[in-house]
Amino acid sequence: MPTIDTAVNIDDLKRIARRRLPKIMFDFIEGGVEDETGLSVNAQAFRNTRLVPRYYIDTSKREQTAKILGLTFNAPFGIAPTGMAGAFRKDAELFLAQAAHEANIPYLMSGASNASMEKGVKLAPKNLWYQIYGARDRSFQLDLVKRAVDCGLTTIAVTCDVPVSSNRERNRRNGFVRPIRMTLPTILEAMLHPGWVINYYRDGGLPMLGNWEKYAAAGSTADQVADMFAKQTPDASQTWKDLEAIRNAWPGKLLVKGIMHPEDARIATGMGVDGIIVSNHGARQLDNMPSSLEMLPLIRNAVGPDTALLLDSGVRRGSDIVAALCMGADFVLTGRATLYGATAGGLAGVKKAVSILQREIDLVLGQIGAPNLDALGPHYLLETVKAEEERRNSGAMARR
Ligand SMILES: Cc1cc2nc3c(=O)[nH]c(=O)nc-3n(C[C@H](O)[C@H](O)[C@H](O)COP(=O)(O)O)c2cc1C
Repeated sequence: MPTIDTAVNIDDLKRIARRRLPKIMFDFIEGGVEDETGLSVNAQAFRNTRLVPRYYIDTSKREQTAKILGLTFNAPFGIAPTGMAGAFRKDAELFLAQAAHEANIPYLMSGASNASMEKGVKLAPKNLWYQIYGARDRSFQLDLVKRAVDCGLTTIAVTCDVPVSSNRERNRRNGFVRPIRMTLPTILEAMLHPGWVINYYRDGGLPMLGNWEKYAAAGSTADQVADMFAKQTPDASQTWKDLEAIRNAWPGKLLVKGIMHPEDARIATGMGVDGIIVSNHGARQLDNMPSSLEMLPLIRNAVGPDTALLLDSGVRRGSDIVAALCMGADFVLTGRATLYGATAGGLAGVKKAVSILQREIDLVLGQIGAPNLDALGPHYLLETVKAEEERRNSGAMARR
């Protein structure tokens, strides 16, 4: 079994996280919906992408500085929002924020995080972004926007792909409901992970939803705040008008997370959104969706070259990040990859996940002959190379 120090890839961090967590918790991270077809669709999309290297290009001074939304980061990826991360490891979101600050990459804190944005921004003043879920009481979502302004954040994202809860059958079978229903098999399995169980109960059980505490009655317990959150979200009555209201209330950069249809992308950009996170929520919402990678070129065509496009869902390797950039993304987010790190080893685990991905990106850049991210593009994709060769061949035939 690897340790944080000996882990060589994201899969090693996943193995450590799996060993540490009871099945009921690990399955919450890992699971998809219904038949979980989407998980393999996401993985396969990357596995089916072929990069064609070019040689005799000086790549001795490689660098992966990335620019997005007028900001400069040390890598072309950031950390996607993952709710309730504090339940997997106490203060996980603070470790994610700290690691993002140290690595100079963005961390998009979840609207269902345990740490509050006010705490996160102290650790990552320039690198914290915040994700908003629409709420039935619209004053909450607008107050969250105001808090993001007061925190001095540069960027927020509104998640659009959770109009209703999803059918996560693993969670239902495991009894991942509140309060966690400890069936005999769940208890027996959890006893194999005593470290997590002892810490969880020592720290008071379900951690507080830090950003929502304010909207519950004074003195509410974590369970009461979570109940209130569950009554507010998901909110199936959200429409483009809600996005417009957030746009009007937010002076900074605004992203919409979860857009998959090119027409939705056109509507969002027409409304003044600064960027789109093309995402299928890590295959956690609708099982038979396409992968975000499949939709990316269509969305790039729909919005043109100037809208910032970020992508997540299924990224586990530096080569996945490079492939997404070649296919039209400006930036990539990692959900489970960095969450495995946080769960497996706290701050050291997130730092390890980030450094693994940075190293892999660096090596892929060297392998394909790209000294920096500006050199990337569709010309590295097998499909493009084939099309170009066919075009040349048909031109040669025509000249004969
Ligand atoms: C445990 C977990 C919790 C998540 N919580 C949120 C959330 O609160 N808000 C959100 O917009 N997306 C959430 N997501 C989706 C991620 O932001 C991201 O879209 C997804 O994880 C990307 O896929 P990947 O895990 O394969 O990288 C969550 C994902 C996971 C795994």
